[in-house]
Order: sequence, then C-alpha cells, then structure tokens
Amino acid sequence: MKRVAKSVAIPTIIFIGAILITTWPSAQDVEHSPPGYAGSQRCKVCHYKIFESWSKTKHASAFNVLKADETANPKCLECHTTGYRRGGFGSDGLAVDLKGVQCEACHGPGQRYSQASVMRQPEVSAKLGLVAIDSLTCVQCHNARSPAFKGFAYKAGLQTGTHSQKRVTVTTP
Ligand code: HEC
Ligand code: HEC
Ligand code: HEC
Ligand code: HEC
Repeated sequence: MKRVAKSVAIPTIIFIGAILITTWPSAQDVEHSPPGYAGSQRCKVCHYKIFESWSKTKHASAFNVLKADETANPKCLECHTTGYRRGGFGSDGLAVDLKGVQCEACHGPGQRYSQASVMRQPEVSAKLGLVAIDSLTCVQCHNARSPAFKGFAYKAGLQTGTHSQKRVTVTTP
C-alpha cells in the first residue's frame, strides 16, 4: 500500500511542480506589469470641469512650447509629455495622445483605476495605480535639470499649476 502511494505521490508532486514553474512567473508578470496610460480624454468623460480647468494651464500645452526639432529630443520629452519611458508617451503601439503634462503625470497611470466603480473606493484605486500627490510628484519635473528652472514653490504651484478643485490637501511643505 505505502509503496503504491509513494509511486503515485512523487510523479504528482513533480507534475504540480512543473505546472507551478511554468505558470507562476507569467501570473506574476501580469500583476506586476506597470498599469497603462489611459490619456486625459478618458478622464474628461467623468471629470469634465476639472478637465476644462486643466486645459487652460501651462501643463496642458507643455508639448507645444517645444520647437520642431525638440519634439524628438528625449531630454525634453521626459518632462514635456506624460509617462515618457514609463509605458506612456512614445511607447510602441500606444493609441492615446499623451502630449503635455496630463492628468496621469500627477495622478498616476489610469488604465486600471479609471472606472467609476473603482474610483469610488479610494483603497482600491490606490492599489490600481492612483497616486497620492505630494511635492515629490512635482519635483520629478520641477528641478534643476529643466533648462528653464527658476526654483519651485509647492504650495503656490498647487494654486496656479494644477486645476480647480473642491479639495486640496497640502500634506508636505
Ligand atoms: C467612469 C468615470 C470616471 C473616469 C473615466 C475617471 N474617474 Fe476619477 N473618479 C470617478 C468617481 C466616481 C470618483 C469618486 C468621486 C467621489 O467619490 O466623490 C473619482 C475620483 C477621482 C479622484 C479622487 C480620488 C480620491 O480618493 O479623492 C481622482 C484624483 C481621480 N478620480 C482622477 C481620475 C483620473 C486622473 C482619471 C483618468 C485617468 C479618472 N479619474 C477617470 C469617476 C471617474
Ligand atoms: C526635468 C524636467 C524638464 C526637462 C528635462 C526639460 N524641461 Fe522644459 N520645463 C520644465 C518645467 C518644470 C518648466 C516650467 C518652468 C519651471 O518652473 O522650471 C519648463 C519650461 C519650459 C519652457 C517654457 C518657457 C520658459 O523658458 O519658461 C520651454 C520653452 C522649455 N521648457 C523647453 C525645454 C526644452 C527645449 C527641453 C529639452 C532640451 C526641456 N525644456 C527639458 C521641465 C523640464
Ligand atoms: C500638475 C499635477 C496635476 C495634474 C496635471 C492634474 N491634477 Fe488632479 N489633482 C492634483 C492635486 C495636487 C490634487 C489635490 C490632491 C489632494 O487633494 O490630495 C488633485 C485633485 C484631483 C481630483 C480630486 C478633486 C477633489 O475635489 O477631491 C480629481 C478628480 C482630479 N484631480 C482629476 C484630475 C484630472 C481629470 C486631470 C486631468 C484633466 C488632473 N486631475 C490633472 C494635481 C494634478
Ligand atoms: C511630467 C512633468 C511635470 C510634473 C509631474 C509637474 N509639472 Fe508643472 N510643469 C511642467 C512643465 C513642462 C511646465 C512648463 C509648461 C510651459 O511653460 O509650457 C510646468 C509648469 C508649471 C507651472 C507654471 C509655471 C509658470 O512659469 O507659469 C506651475 C505653477 C506648475 N507647473 C506646478 C506644478 C505642480 C504644483 C506640480 C505637482 C502637483 C507639477 N507642476 C507637476 C512639468 C511638470
């Protein structure tokens, strides 16, 4: 009896092991693959007033200030587009327009969180890519690597640089 059990058990363990080895990494890849960018047109559907307000900021037109030869310069695209080299602007096969500093440059790539059912649950949104904004979010671009840099004041920048909103939580100076 014991011998039979063993002779069945060992191939079974090997079989299950083989399944785990072949399927585990791909399952992990899916979970850890960066969430994609949806583009501001997607956000506009539900956040129309904020979209309109953002459209009037310099962020919305940040791509347009680049001269023709600069629009292909990685050293400019990094801060004048959304998600450059992070699965956003310029990625292969990307269909959405990600020129300028769009919603997702501050709020995080939104393909997974930009559904009403998800957005109504802050913890779920956060797990699916919605970012808690602080001064570091801005300093990714507002720093001395910018040829136009003249210093950056976070609180003042929030008032003039983002968009109208009912609620602004300033958590860091
Ligand atoms: C299908 C509709 C829909 C789309 C598309 C959508 N949102 Fe939302 N969003 C919501 C709803 C609903 C809420 C929750 C509002 C509430 O609870 O008062 C919300 C809340 C938010 C919040 C506040 C979250 C919080 O915890 O306070 C942010 C920031 C946000 N959305 C950003 C975005 C961005 C950026 C995009 C585009 C990538 C986007 N949303 C696309 C419906 C949407
Ligand atoms: C590290 C991010 C970053 C990089 C890289 C960057 N910029 Fe900018 N750029 C900014 C920011 C932020 C501003 C807004 C001004 C400020 O407060 O620094 C800006 C403003 C500008 C302006 C607005 C006009 C002005 O002078 O105020 C122009 C034009 C410009 N950048 C061109 C470029 C070009 C051309 C390149 C590539 C050679 C480039 N930028 C690279 C972040 C960057
Ligand atoms: C330059 C950065 C930046 C950009 C670009 C930006 N936002 Fe925001 N957004 C913020 C900040 C900062 C807040 C306040 C965050 C907080 O309350 O913690 C905010 C808040 C929000 C909220 C919550 C508003 C509320 O009343 O609670 C929504 C929804 C939102 N943004 C949507 C958008 C959409 C849609 C776009 C693009 C059309 C966009 N944002 C572009 C920085 C940005
Ligand atoms: C992806 C890069 C990026 C991020 C992230 C970013 N910005 Fe900007 N910001 C820019 C660029 C580029 C410009 C210049 C656009 C132009 O002059 O056409 C700019 C312009 C501005 C301006 C107008 C400056 C002026 O000279 O009038 C303000 C204010 C500002 N940003 C505030 C913020 C704040 C606050 C945050 C964070 C909540 C933030 N930005 C996040 C790239 C960025």
